Amino acid sequence: MTKVVVFDEFGGPEVMHIVEEPVTEPNAGEVRVRIEAFAVNPLDQMMRSGASPAPVPLPRARLGVEGTGIVDALGPQVTGLKIGDPVILTAVPDAVVRGSYAQYTTVPANRVITRPDPLGITEAAAIWVAFSTAYGALVEKARMRPGDHVLITAASGRVGQAAIQIARQIGAVPIAVTRHTAKKDALLAAGAAAAIATDQTDIVEAVHHHTGGAGADIVLDLVMGPGQQDLLAAARPGGTLVAAGFLDPRPVPFPTGAPLTFFSYRSFEHTLDDVVVKRMSAFLNAGVRLGALQPAIDKVFALDDVVEAHRYLEKGLHTGKIVVTV
Ligand SMILES: NC(=O)c1ccc[n+]([C@@H]2O[C@H](COP(=O)([O-])OP(=O)(O)OC[C@H]3O[C@@H](n4cnc5c(N)ncnc54)[C@H](OP(=O)(O)O)[C@@H]3O)[C@@H](O)[C@H]2O)c1
Repeated sequence: MTKVVVFDEFGGPEVMHIVEEPVTEPNAGEVRVRIEAFAVNPLDQMMRSGASPAPVPLPRARLGVEGTGIVDALGPQVTGLKIGDPVILTAVPDAVVRGSYAQYTTVPANRVITRPDPLGITEAAAIWVAFSTAYGALVEKARMRPGDHVLITAASGRVGQAAIQIARQIGAVPIAVTRHTAKKDALLAAGAAAAIATDQTDIVEAVHHHTGGAGADIVLDLVMGPGQQDLLAAARPGGTLVAAGFLDPRPVPFPTGAPLTFFSYRSFEHTLDDVVVKRMSAFLNAGVRLGALQPAIDKVFALDDVVEAHRYLEKGLHTGKIVVTV
Protein backbone atom coordinates (compact mmCIF):
# COMPACT_ATOMS: atom_id res chain seq x y z
CA MET A 1 0.00 0.00 0.00
CA THR A 2 1.05 3.62 -0.51
CA LYS A 3 0.04 6.79 1.29
CA VAL A 4 -1.27 9.36 -1.21
CA VAL A 5 -2.37 12.96 -0.66
CA VAL A 6 -5.72 13.52 -2.42
CA PHE A 7 -8.57 16.02 -2.44
CA ASP A 8 -12.23 15.36 -3.28
CA GLU A 9 -13.41 18.99 -3.55
CA PHE A 10 -11.80 22.36 -4.31
CA GLY A 11 -11.00 24.61 -1.37
CA GLY A 12 -8.41 25.60 1.23
CA PRO A 13 -5.46 23.48 2.38
CA GLU A 14 -7.78 21.43 4.63
CA VAL A 15 -9.42 19.69 1.63
CA MET A 16 -6.23 17.64 1.27
CA HIS A 17 -6.13 14.34 3.14
CA ILE A 18 -4.03 11.18 3.10
CA VAL A 19 -5.48 7.87 1.87
CA GLU A 20 -3.93 4.43 1.45
CA GLU A 21 -4.03 2.86 -2.01
CA PRO A 22 -2.51 -0.25 -3.55
CA VAL A 23 0.88 0.39 -5.17
CA THR A 24 0.46 0.30 -8.98
CA GLU A 25 2.72 -1.77 -11.23
CA PRO A 26 4.54 0.20 -13.95
CA ASN A 27 3.35 -0.37 -17.53
CA ALA A 28 5.68 -0.70 -20.50
CA GLY A 29 8.09 2.24 -20.61
CA GLU A 30 7.28 3.33 -17.04
CA VAL A 31 9.13 3.32 -13.72
CA ARG A 32 7.79 3.33 -10.20
CA VAL A 33 9.55 5.78 -7.89
CA ARG A 34 9.57 5.57 -4.08
CA ILE A 35 9.27 9.28 -3.32
CA GLU A 36 11.66 10.63 -0.67
CA ALA A 37 10.65 14.29 -0.87
CA PHE A 38 8.56 16.64 -2.98
CA ALA A 39 8.37 20.42 -3.30
CA VAL A 40 5.21 22.50 -2.97
CA ASN A 41 4.55 24.85 -5.90
CA PRO A 42 2.05 27.67 -6.56
CA LEU A 43 0.55 25.47 -9.30
CA ASP A 44 -0.41 22.89 -6.63
CA GLN A 45 -2.27 25.60 -4.73
CA MET A 46 -4.08 26.64 -7.94
CA MET A 47 -5.10 23.03 -8.67
CA ARG A 48 -6.29 22.40 -5.10
CA SER A 49 -8.33 25.59 -4.93
CA GLY A 50 -9.99 25.16 -8.33
CA ALA A 51 -8.04 28.03 -9.95
CA SER A 52 -6.00 25.87 -12.32
CA PRO A 53 -6.46 26.65 -16.02
CA ALA A 54 -6.26 22.88 -16.77
CA PRO A 55 -9.24 20.71 -15.71
CA VAL A 56 -8.85 18.81 -12.42
CA PRO A 57 -11.20 15.79 -12.27
CA LEU A 58 -12.61 15.06 -8.80
CA PRO A 59 -12.77 13.14 -6.51
CA ARG A 60 -9.40 11.64 -5.48
CA ALA A 61 -7.33 14.18 -7.40
CA ARG A 62 -3.59 13.99 -6.69
CA LEU A 63 -1.04 16.82 -6.59
CA GLY A 64 2.67 17.37 -7.12
CA VAL A 65 4.73 18.30 -10.18
CA GLU A 66 8.22 17.77 -8.76
CA GLY A 67 10.04 15.47 -6.40
CA THR A 68 12.87 13.02 -5.91
CA GLY A 69 13.17 9.39 -4.92
CA ILE A 70 14.49 5.92 -5.68
CA VAL A 71 13.53 3.77 -8.68
CA ASP A 72 11.56 0.94 -7.11
CA ALA A 73 10.22 -1.05 -10.08
CA LEU A 74 10.76 -1.07 -13.85
CA GLY A 75 8.10 -1.73 -16.46
CA PRO A 76 8.92 -3.73 -19.61
CA GLN A 77 11.13 -2.04 -22.22
CA VAL A 78 12.77 0.40 -19.81
CA THR A 79 16.45 0.83 -20.52
CA GLY A 80 19.14 2.97 -18.91
CA LEU A 81 17.67 2.82 -15.39
CA LYS A 82 17.84 0.17 -12.66
CA ILE A 83 16.10 -0.49 -9.37
CA GLY A 84 17.79 1.54 -6.64
CA ASP A 85 18.77 4.50 -8.85
CA PRO A 86 18.21 7.89 -7.18
CA VAL A 87 16.24 10.11 -9.57
CA ILE A 88 14.53 13.49 -9.95
CA LEU A 89 11.08 13.75 -11.55
CA THR A 90 11.36 16.20 -14.46
CA ALA A 91 7.74 16.72 -15.45
CA VAL A 92 4.44 15.39 -14.16
CA PRO A 93 1.94 16.98 -16.56
CA ASP A 94 -0.77 14.57 -15.37
CA ALA A 95 -0.18 15.34 -11.68
CA VAL A 96 -3.86 14.76 -10.90
CA VAL A 97 -3.25 11.02 -11.35
CA ARG A 98 0.52 10.61 -10.95
CA GLY A 99 1.35 13.51 -8.59
CA SER A 100 4.43 13.37 -6.39
CA TYR A 101 2.54 14.02 -3.10
CA ALA A 102 2.72 10.29 -2.23
CA GLN A 103 4.99 7.50 -1.06
CA TYR A 104 5.05 6.04 -4.59
CA THR A 105 4.26 7.25 -8.08
CA THR A 106 4.57 5.68 -11.51
CA VAL A 107 5.78 7.83 -14.41
CA PRO A 108 7.14 7.36 -17.94
CA ALA A 109 10.84 6.47 -17.69
CA ASN A 110 11.76 9.50 -19.80
CA ARG A 111 10.28 11.76 -17.10
CA VAL A 112 13.09 11.06 -14.62
CA ILE A 113 16.78 12.01 -14.62
CA THR A 114 19.59 10.72 -12.45
CA ARG A 115 19.96 12.71 -9.23
CA PRO A 116 23.30 14.54 -9.11
CA ASP A 117 25.42 13.07 -6.26
CA PRO A 118 26.17 16.30 -4.40
CA LEU A 119 22.48 17.20 -3.98
CA GLY A 120 20.79 16.37 -0.69
CA ILE A 121 17.26 14.96 -0.82
CA THR A 122 15.52 18.24 0.05
CA GLU A 123 17.54 20.20 -2.52
CA ALA A 124 16.91 17.53 -5.18
CA ALA A 125 13.16 17.73 -4.51
CA ALA A 126 13.25 21.48 -5.05
CA ILE A 127 15.59 22.01 -7.98
CA TRP A 128 13.69 21.05 -11.12
CA VAL A 129 10.76 23.46 -11.55
CA ALA A 130 12.61 26.67 -10.68
CA PHE A 131 15.88 25.83 -12.43
CA SER A 132 14.39 24.24 -15.55
CA THR A 133 12.06 27.27 -15.94
CA ALA A 134 14.91 29.76 -15.60
CA TYR A 135 17.20 27.68 -17.83
CA GLY A 136 14.50 27.14 -20.47
CA ALA A 137 13.52 30.81 -20.57
CA LEU A 138 17.05 32.25 -20.56
CA VAL A 139 19.16 29.69 -22.38
CA GLU A 140 16.81 27.82 -24.71
CA LYS A 141 14.45 30.72 -25.54
CA ALA A 142 16.49 33.90 -25.17
CA ARG A 143 19.85 32.29 -26.16
CA MET A 144 21.65 33.97 -23.24
CA ARG A 145 25.40 34.28 -23.84
CA PRO A 146 28.41 35.34 -21.73
CA GLY A 147 28.45 39.10 -21.21
CA ASP A 148 24.71 39.56 -21.77
CA HIS A 149 23.06 41.94 -19.31
CA VAL A 150 20.02 40.06 -18.02
CA LEU A 151 17.29 41.95 -16.16
CA ILE A 152 15.39 39.62 -13.79
CA THR A 153 12.11 40.63 -12.12
CA ALA A 154 10.87 38.90 -8.91
CA ALA A 155 14.55 38.11 -8.46
CA SER A 156 14.07 37.23 -4.79
CA GLY A 157 11.63 34.45 -5.74
CA ARG A 158 12.44 30.85 -6.52
CA VAL A 159 12.66 31.17 -10.31
CA GLY A 160 14.42 34.54 -9.97
CA GLN A 161 17.10 33.11 -7.68
CA ALA A 162 17.64 30.23 -10.09
CA ALA A 163 17.91 32.74 -12.95
CA ILE A 164 20.63 34.70 -11.11
CA GLN A 165 22.66 31.52 -10.54
CA ILE A 166 22.21 30.31 -14.13
CA ALA A 167 23.21 33.68 -15.58
CA ARG A 168 26.35 33.57 -13.41
CA GLN A 169 27.16 30.04 -14.54
CA ILE A 170 26.94 31.11 -18.21
CA GLY A 171 29.04 34.25 -17.60
CA ALA A 172 26.17 36.67 -18.15
CA VAL A 173 25.52 39.72 -15.93
CA PRO A 174 22.33 39.34 -13.82
CA ILE A 175 20.61 42.59 -12.78
CA ALA A 176 18.03 41.80 -10.11
CA VAL A 177 14.75 43.70 -9.58
CA THR A 178 12.87 43.83 -6.29
CA ARG A 179 10.10 46.08 -5.01
CA HIS A 180 11.88 46.56 -1.68
CA THR A 181 15.17 48.36 -0.91
CA ALA A 182 15.52 46.12 2.14
CA LYS A 183 16.07 43.12 -0.17
CA LYS A 184 18.90 44.61 -2.24
CA ASP A 185 21.80 43.34 -0.12
CA ALA A 186 20.41 39.81 -0.13
CA LEU A 187 20.14 39.89 -3.91
CA LEU A 188 23.74 41.08 -4.27
CA ALA A 189 24.84 38.34 -1.85
CA ALA A 190 22.89 35.82 -3.97
CA GLY A 191 25.01 36.69 -7.00
CA ALA A 192 23.31 39.63 -8.70
CA ALA A 193 25.79 42.04 -10.31
CA ALA A 194 23.40 44.88 -9.46
CA ALA A 195 20.08 45.13 -7.65
CA ILE A 196 17.35 47.65 -8.43
CA ALA A 197 14.66 48.37 -5.85
CA THR A 198 11.61 49.91 -7.54
CA ASP A 199 10.36 51.51 -4.29
CA GLN A 200 13.18 54.06 -4.53
CA THR A 201 14.71 53.82 -7.97
CA ASP A 202 13.54 54.42 -11.53
CA ILE A 203 14.12 51.08 -13.21
CA VAL A 204 14.73 52.45 -16.73
CA GLU A 205 17.38 54.92 -15.55
CA ALA A 206 19.04 52.35 -13.33
CA VAL A 207 19.27 49.72 -16.09
CA HIS A 208 20.79 52.23 -18.47
CA HIS A 209 23.26 53.20 -15.76
CA HIS A 210 24.29 49.57 -15.15
CA THR A 211 24.59 48.75 -18.87
CA GLY A 212 26.58 51.79 -19.96
CA GLY A 213 23.49 53.28 -21.62
CA ALA A 214 22.83 50.26 -23.83
CA GLY A 215 19.86 48.68 -22.03
CA ALA A 216 19.38 45.03 -21.03
CA ASP A 217 20.07 42.39 -23.68
CA ILE A 218 17.53 40.04 -22.11
CA VAL A 219 14.60 40.67 -19.76
CA LEU A 220 13.13 37.77 -17.78
CA ASP A 221 9.71 39.04 -16.68
CA LEU A 222 8.20 36.88 -13.94
CA VAL A 223 5.71 39.56 -12.87
CA MET A 224 3.99 41.09 -15.96
CA GLY A 225 1.22 43.60 -15.17
CA PRO A 226 1.59 47.31 -16.05
CA GLY A 227 5.24 47.29 -14.88
CA GLN A 228 6.16 45.51 -18.08
CA GLN A 229 6.07 48.87 -19.91
CA ASP A 230 9.16 49.97 -17.95
CA LEU A 231 10.92 46.71 -18.75
CA LEU A 232 10.38 47.28 -22.46
CA ALA A 233 11.95 50.72 -22.09
CA ALA A 234 14.86 49.26 -20.11
CA ALA A 235 15.68 46.68 -22.79
CA ARG A 236 18.19 47.20 -25.57
CA PRO A 237 16.60 47.73 -29.01
CA GLY A 238 16.95 44.34 -30.66
CA GLY A 239 16.99 42.61 -27.26
CA THR A 240 14.68 39.86 -26.00
CA LEU A 241 11.91 39.81 -23.40
CA VAL A 242 10.71 36.46 -22.07
CA ALA A 243 7.44 36.62 -20.12
CA ALA A 244 7.47 33.53 -17.92
CA GLY A 245 5.43 34.46 -14.83
CA PHE A 246 2.31 36.35 -13.87
CA LEU A 247 2.66 37.49 -10.26
CA ASP A 248 0.84 40.75 -11.01
CA PRO A 249 -2.66 39.85 -12.24
CA ARG A 250 -3.43 43.34 -13.60
CA PRO A 251 -3.84 43.52 -17.37
CA VAL A 252 -0.81 44.29 -19.47
CA PRO A 253 -1.04 45.95 -22.91
CA PHE A 254 0.34 43.77 -25.71
CA PRO A 255 3.83 45.12 -26.47
CA THR A 256 3.30 46.34 -30.01
CA GLY A 257 5.94 48.61 -31.50
CA ALA A 258 8.73 47.63 -29.09
CA PRO A 259 11.83 46.76 -31.15
CA LEU A 260 12.30 43.49 -29.24
CA THR A 261 11.81 39.79 -29.68
CA PHE A 262 8.98 38.85 -27.32
CA PHE A 263 8.39 35.31 -26.01
CA SER A 264 5.68 33.99 -23.74
CA TYR A 265 7.14 30.98 -21.96
CA ARG A 266 5.77 27.82 -20.32
CA SER A 267 8.35 25.30 -19.16
CA PHE A 268 6.34 22.23 -20.30
CA GLU A 269 7.33 23.32 -23.81
CA HIS A 270 10.81 22.07 -22.90
CA THR A 271 10.35 19.64 -20.02
CA LEU A 272 8.31 17.29 -22.23
CA ASP A 273 11.00 17.38 -24.94
CA ASP A 274 13.58 14.62 -24.28
CA VAL A 275 16.31 16.37 -26.28
CA VAL A 276 15.99 19.62 -24.29
CA VAL A 277 15.67 17.73 -21.00
CA LYS A 278 19.01 16.05 -21.78
CA ARG A 279 20.62 19.49 -22.17
CA MET A 280 18.90 20.84 -19.03
CA SER A 281 20.02 17.81 -17.05
CA ALA A 282 23.64 18.13 -18.22
CA PHE A 283 23.64 21.85 -17.36
CA LEU A 284 22.15 21.26 -13.89
CA ASN A 285 24.58 18.42 -13.20
CA ALA A 286 27.56 20.58 -14.13
CA GLY A 287 26.29 23.53 -12.09
CA VAL A 288 25.56 21.43 -9.01
CA ARG A 289 28.96 19.72 -9.17
CA LEU A 290 30.74 23.08 -9.54
CA GLY A 291 28.73 24.49 -6.64
CA ALA A 292 27.25 27.19 -8.91
CA LEU A 293 23.65 25.99 -8.65
CA GLN A 294 21.96 25.39 -5.31
CA PRO A 295 18.23 25.73 -4.63
CA ALA A 296 17.33 27.76 -1.55
CA ILE A 297 15.14 25.82 0.91
CA ASP A 298 12.86 27.81 3.17
CA LYS A 299 11.14 25.13 5.27
CA VAL A 300 10.74 21.33 5.38
CA PHE A 301 7.53 19.58 6.51
CA ALA A 302 6.65 15.90 7.11
CA LEU A 303 4.07 14.18 4.89
CA ASP A 304 1.49 14.14 7.70
CA ASP A 305 1.83 17.95 7.86
CA VAL A 306 1.12 18.58 4.16
CA VAL A 307 -1.90 20.77 5.05
CA GLU A 308 0.43 22.96 7.15
CA ALA A 309 2.85 23.14 4.22
CA HIS A 310 0.09 24.61 2.01
CA ARG A 311 -1.01 27.01 4.76
CA TYR A 312 2.58 28.20 4.98
CA LEU A 313 2.73 28.64 1.18
CA GLU A 314 -0.45 30.71 1.28
CA LYS A 315 1.01 33.08 3.90
CA GLY A 316 3.52 34.08 1.18
CA LEU A 317 6.34 34.69 3.66
CA HIS A 318 8.70 32.02 2.31
CA THR A 319 11.92 33.05 0.58
CA GLY A 320 12.94 29.67 -0.86
CA LYS A 321 11.27 26.36 -1.64
CA ILE A 322 8.88 24.55 0.69
CA VAL A 323 9.67 20.83 0.77
CA VAL A 324 7.79 17.85 2.22
CA THR A 325 9.77 14.73 3.16
CA VAL A 326 8.03 11.40 2.81
N1 LIG B 1 6.54 29.68 -17.19
C1 LIG B 1 6.57 28.60 -16.42
O1 LIG B 1 6.56 27.47 -16.88
C2 LIG B 1 6.67 28.80 -14.93
C3 LIG B 1 7.23 27.83 -14.10
C4 LIG B 1 7.35 28.11 -12.73
C5 LIG B 1 6.85 29.31 -12.24
N2 LIG B 1 6.27 30.19 -13.10
C6 LIG B 1 5.75 31.49 -12.63
O2 LIG B 1 6.85 32.35 -12.36
C7 LIG B 1 6.46 33.31 -11.38
C8 LIG B 1 7.50 33.30 -10.28
O3 LIG B 1 7.44 32.06 -9.61
P1 LIG B 1 8.26 31.85 -8.25
O4 LIG B 1 7.96 30.47 -7.78
O5 LIG B 1 9.67 32.29 -8.44
O6 LIG B 1 7.51 32.93 -7.34
P2 LIG B 1 7.83 33.33 -5.86
O7 LIG B 1 8.99 32.57 -5.33
O8 LIG B 1 6.55 33.25 -5.11
O9 LIG B 1 8.26 34.88 -6.07
C9 LIG B 1 8.19 35.67 -4.97
C10 LIG B 1 8.71 37.07 -5.30
O10 LIG B 1 8.06 37.67 -6.40
C11 LIG B 1 7.91 39.05 -6.16
N3 LIG B 1 6.49 39.40 -6.31
C12 LIG B 1 5.44 38.79 -5.80
N4 LIG B 1 4.29 39.39 -6.18
C13 LIG B 1 4.65 40.42 -6.95
C14 LIG B 1 3.95 41.44 -7.62
N5 LIG B 1 2.62 41.53 -7.60
N6 LIG B 1 4.67 42.35 -8.28
C15 LIG B 1 6.01 42.27 -8.32
N7 LIG B 1 6.73 41.31 -7.70
C16 LIG B 1 6.06 40.41 -7.03
C17 LIG B 1 8.32 39.31 -4.74
O11 LIG B 1 9.63 39.85 -4.75
P3 LIG B 1 9.91 41.30 -4.16
O12 LIG B 1 9.12 41.39 -2.88
O13 LIG B 1 11.37 41.24 -3.94
O14 LIG B 1 9.49 42.27 -5.19
C18 LIG B 1 8.37 37.94 -4.12
O15 LIG B 1 9.37 37.80 -3.15
C19 LIG B 1 5.05 32.90 -10.92
O16 LIG B 1 4.10 33.66 -11.62
C20 LIG B 1 4.96 31.44 -11.34
O17 LIG B 1 3.63 31.02 -11.53
C21 LIG B 1 6.18 29.98 -14.42
